[in-house]
Amino acid sequence: MKWDLNYLEENIGTSDFTVFQSSNHKFKYYDEKKIPKLNAEFIPPTTKLSMKFSEFTKCLTETKDSNSRLYLQECLNNNLGAEIVRDFLNFDWQFCTTIQSKHSWGPLTSNLLLVGMEGNVSPCHYDEQQNLFAQVLGHKRCILFPPEQFECLYPHPVFHPHDRQSMVDFDNPDHVRFPKFKELKGWETVIGPGEVLYIPIYWWHHIESLLAGGPTVTINFWYKAKPNGSVTYPLKGHQKVAIMRNIEKMLVDVLQDPNDVSPLLRAIVLGRYTEHT
Ligand code: SIN
Ligand code: FE
Repeated sequence: MKWDLNYLEENIGTSDFTVFQSSNHKFKYYDEKKIPKLNAEFIPPTTKLSMKFSEFTKCLTETKDSNSRLYLQECLNNNLGAEIVRDFLNFDWQFCTTIQSKHSWGPLTSNLLLVGMEGNVSPCHYDEQQNLFAQVLGHKRCILFPPEQFECLYPHPVFHPHDRQSMVDFDNPDHVRFPKFKELKGWETVIGPGEVLYIPIYWWHHIESLLAGGPTVTINFWYKAKPNGSVTYPLKGHQKVAIMRNIEKMLVDVLQDPNDVSPLLRAIVLGRYTEHT
């Protein structure tokens, strides 16, 4: 495949790219917009940098022997070099659009380019869009869990910057705080260049660039979900997750204080919808 780091450096152009820096192997996503209002004390686990692609590749060589790691994550847009745009237009779009129309997905919203170092980990989370995850360079180990396993994965509250991310540290799970994590069961695969993994909307995924596998390049194709048609019962796991998210958002919104959510939910449920109080 053409898109190795040298080719990208030569052809991707001189615009700025977002690069996350981590002092360990984990790159846990956080939503900056959720910090100011309710989470002023939140300390981001990674530092967000901005640099040219050539600076990034230089930093990659320099950080190779340090503990610090880098992960470039930038949406592809129109300020890329002509050669890269040409490659992108020559991409097998029919492959994607056939899947898109077959499953009645909404429009393509964005393409995220990810360039990572071996051993980088995107900790377990779910996204709110359909994702065709196209591996370009290097190999990634992907572990997927269906939305039904919500209770085993303990996502951060929706107002938190780590919304949609599991609170469980897979390297060192706290089984007292997260007892159902033990029951978690997923599907594991390793994907390499030319392979595309479908990560369904609301499916949890833990993704790591294989150790000693060299740098990795991935492009995510994110599509809006299929528009809601008539609902059929029983509801599916992802629909229940969407309902939970809406209720949670509404409660934080009206109560204004996340600490008031638990007493209210408990008052509704305990002894009324539970067998034992
Ligand atoms: C990754 O490839 O590291 C993360 C991609 C994703 O979570 O969609
Ligand atoms: Fe994701």
